Amino acid sequence: MRVLSGIQPSGDLHLGNYFGALVQHIAASKVAKDSEALFFIADYHALTTVHDKDKLVKSVNAVAATYIALGLDTEKAIFFRQSDVPEVQELTWLLGCCTGMGLLQRSHSYKEKVEKGLPASVGLFSYPLLMSADILLYDSTIVPVGQDQVQHVEIAQNCATHFNETFGAKILTRPEFQLSPTPKIPGTDGEKMSKSYGNTIGIFDEGKVLKKAIAGIKTDSRPPEEPKDPDGVLLFQILKLFLSPDEISGYEADLKRGGLYGVGYGKMKEELVQKIDDTFGPVRARYAELMVKPELMEPILEAGAAKARKIAQATLARCYEAVGMPNAVKRLKKNAL
Ligand code: ADP
Ligand code: TRP
Repeated sequence: MRVLSGIQPSGDLHLGNYFGALVQHIAASKVAKDSEALFFIADYHALTTVHDKDKLVKSVNAVAATYIALGLDTEKAIFFRQSDVPEVQELTWLLGCCTGMGLLQRSHSYKEKVEKGLPASVGLFSYPLLMSADILLYDSTIVPVGQDQVQHVEIAQNCATHFNETFGAKILTRPEFQLSPTPKIPGTDGEKMSKSYGNTIGIFDEGKVLKKAIAGIKTDSRPPEEPKDPDGVLLFQILKLFLSPDEISGYEADLKRGGLYGVGYGKMKEELVQKIDDTFGPVRARYAELMVKPELMEPILEAGAAKARKIAQATLARCYEAVGMPNAVKRLKKNAL
């Protein structure tokens, strides 16, 4: 078994990233042993949309600091930066040579990004191919992601099958995706929370910024006494993420009953701010420290990259052997870490 996932450094991380991805990654890191779990910062992927040097550096630091401050176990799991393992680019090419254009042309995420006005670069188009290489390079068996990344993991499954069929052997491992229990967190406008929709609540938002983000959650004019379907109350859908099962059923009953038991949106907003403060407050100082001293994270990322490269080089050597490039196998063995 090997669990692998990545997050793109293209801005500050939000509650959608936290509940859709990070919580699962951090939990998996705590129980991992013997290279069973790998998590990485997908900086090559970020280059498809971020063309500002300072922003990229800051976003990479922000992802690293978020994972570390929230308690990713970097001893048990391998934590690294994608670009520190350049072997992933070599596998991307090998995969591209036996993957049909049609497979990538069907990518929803590419189509959506172009519709939103992003330039249709070759990099943006081949995004799922690079992501497939990320997954296949480490013989990953389980890829925990949110709903929006499922199609990309399916593309990786197809790439593995095509490669193995083309070269007549089981060289690459077919991965499975694992959907988080909360795969689609809504944003403040009710659409999927995403940095590209400007509807996010940041993991490390605090004080006025946090209050403003929470105040912006869309509500309606129904009074507290009016009975409501809890699934139709956006604010409750977000608050619920922070509640225990007992608290959730209590709230649901009150919302449905209304009348004297009814809960006002103002009170729910206050409670949400409090829950966010309780959950992330204790690690805000650590996050802030890592953001001003990114050099503290460097040894962790370098050690992670060294471990990741070992696995990567072994897989890549198998692929080069299969396609008929023994020289590349030799080169990899000669330069092996
Ligand atoms: P964004 O949509 O803000 O650009 P990313 O695409 O970088 O977010 O997502 C990083 C990870 O977080 C992925 O695994 C993705 O599935 C998950 N994720 C992002 N937004 C949400 C959301 N609203 N609900 C659940 N998971 C999400
Ligand atoms: N595309 C993912 C995102 O937007 C990041 C990512 C890159 C990834 N490579 C991956 C996720 C491999 C899982 C596995 O967040």
